[in-house]
Amino acid sequence: MPKPIYVLNGPNLNLLGSREPEVYGHATLNDVAAQTEAKASTLGLEIEFRQSNREGELVEWIQEARDSANGIIINAGAYTHTSVAILDALLAADVPCVEVHLSNLFAREEFRHHSYISPVAIGLICGFGPKGYEFAVEALAERIAADESAAQ
Ligand code: DQA
Repeated sequence: MPKPIYVLNGPNLNLLGSREPEVYGHATLNDVAAQTEAKASTLGLEIEFRQSNREGELVEWIQEARDSANGIIINAGAYTHTSVAILDALLAADVPCVEVHLSNLFAREEFRHHSYISPVAIGLICGFGPKGYEFAVEALAERIAADESAAQ
């Protein structure tokens, strides 16, 4: 059984659809999950889509991903800009990671311009709404395939 990609979502993303729709749009997190899953299945990949408002729970899921996932897509919400604990967990995880944000961080307040996650991610996708999760699945699929063929 191939391992899934963990798609991890941080605080307040459970409110998508009703939270600041002018910034984050009208899609709910369930809509984003369905869209991401549909994209993954066209590429023959499984995803495990989760959300938590708690930093420690996100850290535990990243630790779990070390053994149980092929890669991580993470939208850590506000913890992106504050969490050394999430950075350390990603450093230890030893699986490829793509950082996603619905909004364009660089068109927003200055405190959103810094991410603790970007230095350890393959890349950062922001500003494309839920479509960014699809782009992240594609990017990760290519990286996983490249790593697998390099290992043969
Ligand atoms: C976000 C951007 C963060 O700055 C913010 O705290 C969020 C959502 C995004 O997806 O655009 O909660 O990660």
